Amino acid sequence: MEKYYITTPIYYPSGKFHIGTAYTEVVADTVKRYKTLRGYDTYLLTGMDEHGQKIQTVAEKNNMTPQEHVDHMAALAKELWGKMDIKYDDFIRTTEPRHEKVVQEIFEKFLASGDIYKGEYEGMYCVPCETYFTKTQLVDGKCPDCGRDVVLMKEEAYFFNMKKYADRLVKLYEESDFITPEFRKTEMINNFIKPGLEDLCVSRTSFDWGIKVSSDPKHVVYVWLDALTNYLTALGYLSEDDSKFKKYWPADLQIVGKDIARFHLIYWPIFLMALDLPIPKKILVHNWIMMKDGKMSKSKGNVVYPELLIDRYGLDATRYFLLREMPVVQDGVFSPESFVERFNFDLCNDLGNLLNRTVSMVNKYFAGIVPTYKGQVNEVDKDLEEYTQSQIKLVEEHLEKFEFANALQELWNIIARTNKYIDETTPWALEKEGETLKLESCMNHLIENLRKIGIMLLPFMEKTAKSILNQIGLSNAENTWESLYQIDQIPEQTKVIEKGEPLFMRLNVEEEIDYIKTGMQK
Ligand code: ME8
Ligand code: MG
Repeated sequence: MEKYYITTPIYYPSGKFHIGTAYTEVVADTVKRYKTLRGYDTYLLTGMDEHGQKIQTVAEKNNMTPQEHVDHMAALAKELWGKMDIKYDDFIRTTEPRHEKVVQEIFEKFLASGDIYKGEYEGMYCVPCETYFTKTQLVDGKCPDCGRDVVLMKEEAYFFNMKKYADRLVKLYEESDFITPEFRKTEMINNFIKPGLEDLCVSRTSFDWGIKVSSDPKHVVYVWLDALTNYLTALGYLSEDDSKFKKYWPADLQIVGKDIARFHLIYWPIFLMALDLPIPKKILVHNWIMMKDGKMSKSKGNVVYPELLIDRYGLDATRYFLLREMPVVQDGVFSPESFVERFNFDLCNDLGNLLNRTVSMVNKYFAGIVPTYKGQVNEVDKDLEEYTQSQIKLVEEHLEKFEFANALQELWNIIARTNKYIDETTPWALEKEGETLKLESCMNHLIENLRKIGIMLLPFMEKTAKSILNQIGLSNAENTWESLYQIDQIPEQTKVIEKGEPLFMRLNVEEEIDYIKTGMQK
């Protein structure tokens, strides 16, 4: 079995997770489910990035020790990922001994190899971003990332010799396609590599909530060196049992938001080169979920927490919206209006009605038993079959490229085409005219397409997909991805359920827009 190792960023436990953070998890989880369905031995890693001054400060504000604070936050994160049915295989926390020990060892390895040297650092430091900036990088004297005040700091520090690897990094960019999308590569080259790669300060003495440098314990390891190595330590790299590491490294897909592209596209491969380890096969940089008035922020009162949507509209509708509306490599906009609209049109009307009409017709005309395949009997049977086959290919191609919005759009085109097929064949007229063969063929084609739609929905919205397959009497079938490319897949005596259950209940547009807007203010 071929392996497939997927990672998400490990999040800072600085506040409640909003739909932006949840988005990364949903993307990763969808890939994991898709690859599993395609027969891979998948491994999905997520976790939490628990060190650093920012965390220490937040903990103090909450009258907790940093450890109490991160324990509390880790429990909340696991609860949310549980609620969102994220199928992660491991949840790494950077305060765990299995991680800390190895980070210390890696640091000492770098000291020994000369990749890390001791020096002095002076610069403008942004505390919330944990990043030093040069004067020219500042925007109006403020942090270029978050716009907040920076402070002048000077400290004895260790540095990582990035310059030494600049040429190899450029070569890596040229020779592999490990960065998706391409334009991020150009961005890195123009913004960071061409102006000259700076050595990176990899230790701090200004606070102590971090991993101590074992040979010089007044220093703690810079949070990004600490954090990035999680992808290795979680697999048991440099530990007694490194069987997972041997099996799963290098990562097949590392998913990161655009805000942390630089760390993953520059420092991360360089650390790996210094460790003499293979580079991940692909780093997917996704864009952001924005609000109509810009970034989500508490002060603007425009933050959407996943619970708000999941508790009222269900997990599947929430996942559907995130994956359908956010184009991955461009920013997407969340609005209550579009959420309610997609719910009513795509989920209730298009998908829900197709299932409902079909199940009730099979019950009415054939006492619930799905007629077997009769060939291309109606004039439009051939057209429907051919259209569906070519669409399935498109869905798959988009999934292979992590283009979820496009994949769902092509899948919904199949749903629309299948609904149209009902209007074209007019089964109610066929029944009146005693056209039994045509009616049988029509029902078989409808169920066959619902089977395909159900299978293709599995990675995106499992509960809905399983409900579809169950309602058409195929919950015990194998339902493999490969079977999508076949027709005539409905076994004899397949029986639909007697009374179909609506997948989604239509929403009152105004009431629900109001509900979401009110929830965003809280
Ligand atoms: O950066 N839309 O953690 P973090 C989409 N600990 N995604 C968003 C988003 C939005 N509006 N806002 C945040 C860190 N994200 C480090 C990572 S990895 C070794 C260390 C997502 O809690 C996006 O994936 O700030 C981003 O990369 C991540 O949350 C940042 O989470
Ligand atoms: Mg961040």
